[in-house]
Amino acid sequence: MSVMYIQGGAPLEGAWRVQGAKNSVLPVLAGCLLSPQPVVIRNCPRLSDVDAAVDILQHLGASCRWEGEKLVVDAGQASGTAIDEGRMRAMRSSIMFLGPLAARMGEATLTYPGGCELGPRPIDLHLEALRAMGCQVEEQDGTITCRGRPRGGVVTLKFPSVGATENAMLCGAGAAEDTTIVNAAREPEIVQLQQFLNALGGEVTGAGGSVITVRGGRPLHGGAISILGDRIVAATLLSGVAAAGGEVELQGVDWRHLSTVLQLFEQGGCRVRSAPGRIWFCRREDVPMKSVGPVATAPYPGFPTDAQAPVMAAFATARGTTIFQETMFSRRFGHVPELREMGADISLHGQGAWVRGVKRLHGAQVSATDLRGGGALAVAALGAQGETQLRGVEHIDRGYEHLEEMFNRLGAQIQRR
Ligand code: UD1
Repeated sequence: MSVMYIQGGAPLEGAWRVQGAKNSVLPVLAGCLLSPQPVVIRNCPRLSDVDAAVDILQHLGASCRWEGEKLVVDAGQASGTAIDEGRMRAMRSSIMFLGPLAARMGEATLTYPGGCELGPRPIDLHLEALRAMGCQVEEQDGTITCRGRPRGGVVTLKFPSVGATENAMLCGAGAAEDTTIVNAAREPEIVQLQQFLNALGGEVTGAGGSVITVRGGRPLHGGAISILGDRIVAATLLSGVAAAGGEVELQGVDWRHLSTVLQLFEQGGCRVRSAPGRIWFCRREDVPMKSVGPVATAPYPGFPTDAQAPVMAAFATARGTTIFQETMFSRRFGHVPELREMGADISLHGQGAWVRGVKRLHGAQVSATDLRGGGALAVAALGAQGETQLRGVEHIDRGYEHLEEMFNRLGAQIQRR
């Protein structure tokens, strides 16, 4: 297992084009199963979670090939209906194959998905959605079986789950009749999934709002999509600049997808300017950040739970106390003990983290226990004095495309050995 050696203290300067979004490409990859013709995915990030999705597609009989930053998926010959436990456990998004398998094959057998350990991550909303669309879904001894082609129907989600909304959209696009999803999640990745399904000949409307309609009975064909810029990678990079100081221009990301994060950094004393597809961000090295009012994670357009850890790392050295309230996942503070090793003063009270800013963090030996927590430790290390040895890099590789290259191009000193 490799280790990242991060020398802290250098300000970050320059421009960087943000990678394609992990959370956008994964449902798109599952959706490729719906098309009997090739699908071209542009700006596809190279991530271990993408490799895991490709492995599942190939296992089901699809062919996948990289052409530079494009991934071409041809599911014309796909005929598999089962995904084994090993493949399901490789990531949380393996569950996104349930809806497309039900729609294309009329049956699916899989197990519970894996993914980051953030507390219990049930899939009841996914299963209820498919049942509401007419599939017979059963769970026994850890195996989920789904039989019958989806008819369509009304799916009312108890909570606007991102994954359940996406699974219902994917299943609905292959259903015989129309599907309406009520209390749908509103994330930008859902708007992109609508764009993708429409590019394949589907007719999906309403994404970005709380009610999504998917027209059934439409044969899908091949098509192309360009994956949107990753707003969480962008938030991590900005957190790194807030922690280390400096001035950067981010390209390829929509600032509107990051407005809650940008507002917080502005309140903390950073300067932000934005234009279509660009964000200019500055934190003067001689001006420390200041604490901000309580930050509570919430479904989009609220503050993203995925940005909580990296942003917290930046506020660990802000003057005053900042409180982070995690409302989405019950165990999403795995980075806190590691940040404490680096000199941070953080106490946990239930789902709240009280971050009392210290003057400076120092390098230490720390371990990532989940993807975004790993991003947070890299952020902290960039602003810290001395060297940090960061283990658990495999978690980081699930969602950050060459994290060290991204920061090194802006003047950081990170080596992977
Ligand atoms: C997606 C993102 C993840 C992000 C999360 C919340 C992808 C690949 N991952 O995950 O990065 O942190 O949204 O923005 O897009 N829940 C249930 N039952 C279900 C499904 C979810 O109770 O069947 C609960 C979860 O436990 C959690 C909440 O709903 O408390 C939100 O989860 P959800 O929006 O589904 O997240 P994911 O789709 O797993």
